[in-house]
Amino acid sequence: MQNPNPIIVALDVPDAARAIELAEQLSPHVGALKIGKELFTAVGPEIVRRLRAAGARVFLDLKFHDIPNTVAGAVRAAARLDVQMLTLHTAGGSAMMRAAVQAAGEMAQATGTEPPLLLGVTVLTSMDPAALEETGVPGPVEQQVERLARLAIEAGLPGLVCSPQELRLLRAVLPAEVQLVTPGIRPASAALGDQKRVMTPAEAMAAGANWLVIGRPITGAADPAIAARQILEEIRSGG
Ligand code: C5P
Repeated sequence: MQNPNPIIVALDVPDAARAIELAEQLSPHVGALKIGKELFTAVGPEIVRRLRAAGARVFLDLKFHDIPNTVAGAVRAAARLDVQMLTLHTAGGSAMMRAAVQAAGEMAQATGTEPPLLLGVTVLTSMDPAALEETGVPGPVEQQVERLARLAIEAGLPGLVCSPQELRLLRAVLPAEVQLVTPGIRPASAALGDQKRVMTPAEAMAAGANWLVIGRPITGAADPAIAARQILEEIRSGG
């Protein structure tokens, strides 16, 4: 079944007041709000509580990567904050990912709630083949993306973050129920900003995305709520 509202808005803002203002405008019109490292590091977990109290679904994008015990603790802390989605680096390995899945499951059982959707990050899109090779991983990049994606699914992760360009590759090799979340989305009319390889929302959905992470085309619009609704209409009409 298609996600009724696949839009996740990236709240890439440096302070709580702006984040809350955007959340109030946007939460009725989008599927979730993404809190990343900038906002979380600046204002702390209180912003998650505020957005949850306002009824928004929260995607905590902190990309955990540490020893299994530490990541399990971080996942428990995120589950206590009642976030609906969170990210971790698949390069942390299968033991780390299994510990995260177990921690999320145990917390959900203890509290009688749904576990957060754990999303694996494979190769950062800022890494080109030379940057990957510097870290000891020979190319091509897609091969490493596929390898880490398979590892993540075998370790029990229910979803992945990937670039629009990776959607078709991953859809072809992963079980159909795997949730794919993709940034790098620009509505047909929008400015590209620093995003170079982009897809429109409808193209990304057609290529197999379940969720679209969209920041500036919505948060930088004169009326963010109208921008979000236009994008949703664009998706529903198929582009
Ligand atoms: O403003 P924009 O739509 O470019 O925001 C996209 C969001 O997705 C940002 O929070 C950015 O950090 C994140 N992201 C990305 N490209 C990736 C991974 C994450 O743009 N490859």
